[in-house]
Amino acid sequence: SPSEPFRNEPAPDFTKESERVAYPEALAEVRRQLGRTYPLYINGQEVTTEDLLPSLNPADPGEVVGSVCQASTREIDEAIAAANEALPAWRDLAPEDRAQYIFRAADIARKNIHTLSAWQILEVGKQWNQAHGDVAEAIDFMEYYARDMIRLGRPRRTGKAPGELTHYFYQSKGIAAVIGPWNFPLAISCGMSAASLVTGNCVLYKPAGLSSVVGHTLCQIFRDAGLPPGVFNFVPGRGSVIGDYLVDHPDIALVAFTGSLDVGLRIIERAARLQPGQEHVKKVIAEMGGKNAIIVDDDADLDEAVADIIYSAFGYQGQKCSACSRVIVLDSIYDKFMHRLTKAAQSLPIGPAEDPGNFMGPVVDKGQQDKVNAAVALAEEEGNVVLKRDDHPDTGSYAPLTIVENITPEHRLAQEEIFGPVLAVMRVKDFDQALQWANSTPYALTGAVFSRSPQHLDRARTEFRVGNLYLNRGSTGSMVERHPFGGFKLSGVGSKTGGPDYLLQFMDPRTATENT
Ligand code: SER
Repeated sequence: SPSEPFRNEPAPDFTKESERVAYPEALAEVRRQLGRTYPLYINGQEVTTEDLLPSLNPADPGEVVGSVCQASTREIDEAIAAANEALPAWRDLAPEDRAQYIFRAADIARKNIHTLSAWQILEVGKQWNQAHGDVAEAIDFMEYYARDMIRLGRPRRTGKAPGELTHYFYQSKGIAAVIGPWNFPLAISCGMSAASLVTGNCVLYKPAGLSSVVGHTLCQIFRDAGLPPGVFNFVPGRGSVIGDYLVDHPDIALVAFTGSLDVGLRIIERAARLQPGQEHVKKVIAEMGGKNAIIVDDDADLDEAVADIIYSAFGYQGQKCSACSRVIVLDSIYDKFMHRLTKAAQSLPIGPAEDPGNFMGPVVDKGQQDKVNAAVALAEEEGNVVLKRDDHPDTGSYAPLTIVENITPEHRLAQEEIFGPVLAVMRVKDFDQALQWANSTPYALTGAVFSRSPQHLDRARTEFRVGNLYLNRGSTGSMVERHPFGGFKLSGVGSKTGGPDYLLQFMDPRTATENT
């Protein structure tokens, strides 16, 4: 309940019969709804367009999950007009009242957690636990930001000068464009949208094309929460048709983006240009890629390290910005570690995410499969491939789980984000070199160290310069509030989702001073 302190949504407990049967039931229910057409949602109305984008099941591309109407610039204009109309009342609503809508949305998502997860299993190939984690994180973002807005909305005085009364308070920036990724298709879109909304901005939400049916589930959650018309608008569309138009629009005050480095930098550049009629400096919150390393020290607990590296590198096929794509191993433990790592990776069951027995499934689509295959070819050129798992089903966009050694910082494989199940192994002589190589990329998102040495862990705290550093724990799976998430350098603008400063980026602070 909103009056209680924040707490994370629990992980699924598959030892419980009820949890085990919930998934097959939810999958069957979602399967009955496959192939539908989804409209846009503008000003509280469904809007259909003629341009449809089919969304396919990565494990069986013959299966159309749904077809999603695509916005043209005309629908963007309509949504902006609706948002402008809705803005004054929404902006000036008391923060606690805005928070109540978000709490309501969290309740709706919680009640539907299994079906919401099932959509992700079928649309983007998330395993049961990964899909559940995504929906749980969406709920956490809503519960956390709603409470945080109530905190920030409390009246605050600054200064103690006699005869003077100053109030310090926040105002929303205006209209936000929320541009989401496909890999955490509900959580990240929901987090960026909920933060925009609860701070008093109106939203135009554009999901990633590959996860636009899940994007529609977010729209449904906010619809059911009863937000006033025009406050939240669902505008799926092709990046090539509406991407620049949306970012360039003079009425957009804020862009919240999570995705690739290329697109993020393009948004930052375009948003910096003042457009005719524009009356504000646009704010861009961009979270981009990673080339995350895990260091294995010579005294590491290998039972823990191997299991956590496998999960960090190959969980959800390595398609996480937080994924481990480099493992940096000290020379003296190298052979022992590699033996165990490759044995473990060799034994992982691979197949459709729908079957909970599979650890790894297909990557999200043919395009991603081509990219990963190109990286595997590069691995064969630059290093020594010690494992390449081609033993996967023929149907579906599978890319081989690959481990490549003899990689050094000069290699492209040590520098470029792959976003797939390809792990580069780097052998170092000592802990100094491990830290140096860990920092030797333009990214700074996540990182981890497995070590029993308190001195080494302490050094890593300061010298391993990433946004999220984990000591004796894998590099993925940040939890809202417990691990505020986000990086710097080319990984992002230094914002932290699920943390105490996040909402401040969505508002402008004001003061009002009265001579009394
Ligand atoms: N927060 C996610 C993780 O930590 C990535 O977006 O894996």
